[in-house]
Amino acid sequence: MPDAGLGPAVEMVAARVPVRVDVAVTSDRYPPAVEATAYFVVSEALANVTKHADASRAGVTVASVGEHLQVEVCDDGRGGADPVRGSGLSGLRDRVLAVGGTLHLESVPGAGTVVRVDLPCGATT
Ligand SMILES: Nc1ncnc2c1ncn2[C@@H]1O[C@H](COP(=O)(O)OP(=O)(O)OP(=O)(O)O)[C@@H](O)[C@H]1O
Ligand SMILES: [Mg+2]
Repeated sequence: MPDAGLGPAVEMVAARVPVRVDVAVTSDRYPPAVEATAYFVVSEALANVTKHADASRAGVTVASVGEHLQVEVCDDGRGGADPVRGSGLSGLRDRVLAVGGTLHLESVPGAGTVVRVDLPCGATT
């Protein structure tokens, strides 16, 4: 990840997605392991939008929520994502769990996809 922080890094990934991606990323800084995990989540989720979703738009939000960093990647595509069909989503879950976070996937067929990850940030002020 470029050292300029998550915002510019996410913008670079979003620019490679062939549909409009609305990006909103906090400018706060977090420990490197947290930022790297957040970046990895956005990269894989947006790769999935490009490969699988057939979406007309997507969105990325990275926000401070209490003492957690919440990462959300959504699209309005076909839904029906299933971690057993690949290694990307299950790898994400492993990586998120390894830093004490949680991953929640909402992907009803026909109703788009939301990947929501919650990462504890540790006490850095
Ligand atoms: N945003 C999405 N919209 C629709 N389907 C999705 C989306 N993301 C994932 N999927 C479906 O869920 C499956 C599992 O996704 P996953 O990322 O785990 O694997 P992959 O992208 O197929 O392969 P890999 O990530 O290992 O290169 C995909 O094969 C695809 O069928
Ligand atoms: Mg994938």
